[in-house]
Amino acid sequence: MTRVALFGATGFIGAACAAALAAAGHEVLPRPARRLAVDGEALTGVPERAYRPHLPGLAAELDGVGAVVNAAGVAVSAARLSPELVGGNAAWPRLLADACERAGVPRLVHVSTAAVQGRVDRLDESLRYAPVNPYARSKTLGEQLLRDAAAAGRVAVTLYRPPSVHGSGRRMTTAFAAFCRRWPLVTCGDGGQPVPVALIGNVGAAVAAILAADGAPLVVSHPYEGHTVRSLYETFAPGRPLHPLPARAVRGLLRAAEPTGQWLPPLSAACRRAELLLFGQGQERGWLDARGFRLPLGQPAWDEVAATRGRSHYR
Ligand SMILES: NC(=O)c1ccc[n+]([C@@H]2O[C@H](COP(=O)([O-])OP(=O)(O)OC[C@H]3O[C@@H](n4cnc5c(N)ncnc54)[C@H](OP(=O)(O)O)[C@@H]3O)[C@@H](O)[C@H]2O)c1
Repeated sequence: MTRVALFGATGFIGAACAAALAAAGHEVLPRPARRLAVDGEALTGVPERAYRPHLPGLAAELDGVGAVVNAAGVAVSAARLSPELVGGNAAWPRLLADACERAGVPRLVHVSTAAVQGRVDRLDESLRYAPVNPYARSKTLGEQLLRDAAAAGRVAVTLYRPPSVHGSGRRMTTAFAAFCRRWPLVTCGDGGQPVPVALIGNVGAAVAAILAADGAPLVVSHPYEGHTVRSLYETFAPGRPLHPLPARAVRGLLRAAEPTGQWLPPLSAACRRAELLLFGQGQERGWLDARGFRLPLGQPAWDEVAATRGRSHYR
């Protein structure tokens, strides 16, 4: 049993982490994240300058803690670049790593995102970055600042990367379910393309599995949950037909939207979501797979999540 300080426990992923960590026998200490507003440039060189006043108080809060899990951040994929976005997704996790070092906390698990790899062909556990919007760029900067803290030997850091996370009553999930019921279900190819998506209960379990290991690598991907474009549509809108679209024309349209998406993050986020459903994205087997980790929730849980409309379990 470890005393685990959990930041972001009031959020969607944090609540699932709290449940999974408590079920694994840990003492979970929910802690509020600091709200930082930081210009990205302030984080180059000596990042500590951007958050120094918060460090002593935060380190004091971590006294006697055996591990820290950070599920706090600004989880808005359509966000514009702002000091709050950079503060929440980059400066805050680095502040936390420095506070861990000062308090002598040996481990930090940080909830990052698969979006840091953007549209690479296959997601993996490398530091190959290709963020496509300000949200993903802020999360990438957070990973890089934590990578630097880990390289300085300050604290053993794990950057855990879940893809889009679904859960009962979650707005993204109910919106996707409504989309699947109302609109023609389109895809490029035969629909057999893999899609990286996750169930909230599996995300909590993955975080607990990372902490259960004596050590974990710097980057850990959420395991592939087995969905293809077709199976995901079938889960949320059983029996509806799939309409194939010409891949070349679709790629041309998405490319044409890119320049506008650069200054209109909601468009870029919508295009990225569409791109994932139209083309899918593969994934390498990762560290959790190699350790024999089994996702606790499978298709019946997906069916249950898809069947609930607007009911909230987590917020
Ligand atoms: N939801 C997804 O599909 C998904 C997918 C991949 C990765 N992620 C990542 O997972 C993390 C949690 O996402 P979530 O969906 O659970 O979000 P959420 O429900 O909005 O919860 C985030 C929590 O972060 C804290 N927070 C809010 N604003 C903050 C700010 N400006 N700076 C620092 N902390 C702030 C709050 O906790 P307190 O009030 O307790 O401090 C809040 O409850 C995010 O970093 C996100 O990038 C999410």
